[in-house]
Amino acid sequence: MADSKKTATLKIGEQVLELPILSPTAGPDVIDIRKLYAQAGVFTYDPGFTSTAACDSTITFIDGEEGELLHRGYPIDQLAEKSHFLEVCYLLLYGELPTGAELEDFENRVTNHTMIHEQMQFLFRGFRRDAHPMAIMVGVVGAMSAFYHDSTDINDPWQREVASIRMIAKMPTIAAMAFKYTIGQPFVYPRNDLDYASNFLRMCFSVPCEEYEVNPILARAMDRIFTLHADHEQNASTSTVRLASSSGANPFACIAAGIACLWGPAHGGANQACLEMLEDIGSVDRIPEFIARAKDKNDSYRLMGFGHRVYKNFDPRAKVMKQSADEVLELLGIDNNPKLQVAKELERQALEDPYFADKKLFPNVDFYSGIILEAMGFPTSMFTPIFALARTVGWISQWKEQLDDPQLRIGRPRQLYQGATMRDYVDVENR
Ligand code: SDX
Repeated sequence: MADSKKTATLKIGEQVLELPILSPTAGPDVIDIRKLYAQAGVFTYDPGFTSTAACDSTITFIDGEEGELLHRGYPIDQLAEKSHFLEVCYLLLYGELPTGAELEDFENRVTNHTMIHEQMQFLFRGFRRDAHPMAIMVGVVGAMSAFYHDSTDINDPWQREVASIRMIAKMPTIAAMAFKYTIGQPFVYPRNDLDYASNFLRMCFSVPCEEYEVNPILARAMDRIFTLHADHEQNASTSTVRLASSSGANPFACIAAGIACLWGPAHGGANQACLEMLEDIGSVDRIPEFIARAKDKNDSYRLMGFGHRVYKNFDPRAKVMKQSADEVLELLGIDNNPKLQVAKELERQALEDPYFADKKLFPNVDFYSGIILEAMGFPTSMFTPIFALARTVGWISQWKEQLDDPQLRIGRPRQLYQGATMRDYVDVENR
């Protein structure tokens, strides 16, 4: 961060404090309150961290007002159009776009780590067949720390690098196995002659009794969906990974914590909830009824796939996803998909409604993704596992960045205590 002589003056009673203001390369200045408690004996209060910068980072920047998303400075729409997921993984992990040789080496390293330890397949059998794939992924990814002891020492840079590659490489295999397990089909091994997205589609949809040809249109759309979900600043699941890692927990345990957090319907679970909402709406004539419920202060119902803590404009990922939905469905000949029609009309009506306009609620990354994934043949239960698969590179990149930060300390928020003050124990006969 740029040093600055700017300060914020804070007057508490008779005490006047000058708090340093730190300036970023992009985005708002921050007031450095690290010494506030020592100097003034007070905490700051910010449930949900709406105004709190928890760390420095150089990986991703979001301009919520402008609806911009940059990965190492590159706009997401350019990366989605011109790059591909493993190149974006390299960019997030190492900070620069790779040369041809660097990219080939990276892709080979990932490709050669896609298999999981053969013993791990027996973990799946501990789950009921109707288990949600996210429940399986949380368990199996956490269990990786019981199989890959040679990449759990976070103080060894080489082990951090191996763990990073292993996580990116094995997540599609684990997600596909979770899917196959829940539909009662045999696991499919990864292939080294397929690209990342094609490998995942084949592991999900091929069966032993016939050849499976990956549809290049779907592979390109799958790869683009991975890119659009790769990283997103200090969102809830990334912050979970950072907090878990701050205690020195091993990378697999930290990623499992991130998967658990992502599952929530307010976060990564919204893509599944959004498609289920579109199914509930069913037809465009029922849209006003659902918009009315979302606006009703006495109804906790919300439009899934709408709104965002940071974006107060269009989520740039939603724009790309909407274009991709049109392309994929047209190319698949599903151009009159009822859910897509409902989604487009819901978006139109909501954006014309003062409630959504005033609160700056726009479609987010989860609004259109489910329509594409369903058209590809995925059940709604696989939507969030696919989000987790793609976000793994973001979690791992932020995990590595934090471990390289000399300021790293265990994360330990304070509180505004509203409970009982000191009182003496009362024996049961006197209560
Ligand atoms: C992701 O952080 C990230 O970057 C996340 C993510 C990533 O890539 O990691 O972008 C991925 O999680 C996208 C968001 C997916 N979630 C959903 O689509 C679920 C529906 N959206 C919401 O629940 C909500 O918008 C959040 C959780 C996304 C944001 O919540 P905030 O920032 O805490 O906002 P809020 O709940 O304080 O809402 C502000 C106002 C409230 O009204 P008032 O109390 O001020 O009167 O807007 C209303 C809310 O009631 N509101 C909605 C709404 N979202 C907010 N009203 C109707 N429908 C909605 N979807």
